[in-house]
Amino acid sequence: MIFLSGRFMPLEDATISVLDRGFIFGDGVYEMIPVYSRHPFRLREHLARLQNSLDAIRLVNPYSLDEWARIINQIIAGNTGEDQSIYLQITRGPAKRDHAFPPRITPTIFVMSAPLTLPPAVTRERGVVAVTARDNRWLRCDIKSVSLLPNVLLRQAAVDAGAAETVLLRDGLLTEGAASNIFVIRHGVLLAPPKSHLMLPGITYDVVLELAAAAGIPSDIRQISEAEVRDADELWLTSSTKEILPITTLDEQPVGDGRPGPLYQRIAQCYQEYKTEVMRSGIVQ
Ligand code: PDD
Repeated sequence: MIFLSGRFMPLEDATISVLDRGFIFGDGVYEMIPVYSRHPFRLREHLARLQNSLDAIRLVNPYSLDEWARIINQIIAGNTGEDQSIYLQITRGPAKRDHAFPPRITPTIFVMSAPLTLPPAVTRERGVVAVTARDNRWLRCDIKSVSLLPNVLLRQAAVDAGAAETVLLRDGLLTEGAASNIFVIRHGVLLAPPKSHLMLPGITYDVVLELAAAAGIPSDIRQISEAEVRDADELWLTSSTKEILPITTLDEQPVGDGRPGPLYQRIAQCYQEYKTEVMRSGIVQ
């Protein structure tokens, strides 16, 4: 079951206009929310980021937080699987093709669920391969826009190279991954690029920094040079659908000793414990 602009229906019955500005211009924003044991994870934070994306593209939020929570919980209930990933998207809706905003709009609002297929244990144990590329995206990477062509091409570059992710560098500095945030560990310190218009403010990024602080792992939020990335003791990627994964090979070179490092083991355990605690308490975080 999906939700489309006010109605719940089977996916097969859902249709939208070919003139939808999401289709024609990529004029819309989205969120991806992980669901564990039928509880949406960090829902408030995802909806706050959605509001920021909507504000940035000057689209009115069609629903209140309570209304969103109700829709999302109905979608979770209407789909099978304890762990799901909720995708939601709002576009500026159908209109005669013209770049400028139409005078009146009817946004298209779409929510669907898919099974949350987390990386298998063997991937977490061995780590993943990544490549680097120049970050050639626009300068508003903080907006979770459905205009993802640059990310699509950058991620495909990873797949073509037999890798899981592309680590992006802009002007000699780390920004993020094609579909993830990137952390660097050097000399026992967790380094994270500061949030800016050059990266998506990841929800998992925030969780990792909170968990690191609680675990007494020192962290430093600052610009990270390409040389520091290439000389890292550990590299992690984070996202709602991958959680935290160690990158153990970068551009065919081993990261550290080429195996997931000790801080990865610690943070991954903290993350699993945190998830369990949040879900057991029944608090929708
Ligand atoms: N993407 N940076 C980019 C460019 C991303 O696309 C994502 C996630 C992240 C991580 O954000 P979060 O921790 O909030 O998931 C960072 C989602 C999963 C996607 O597009 O499927």
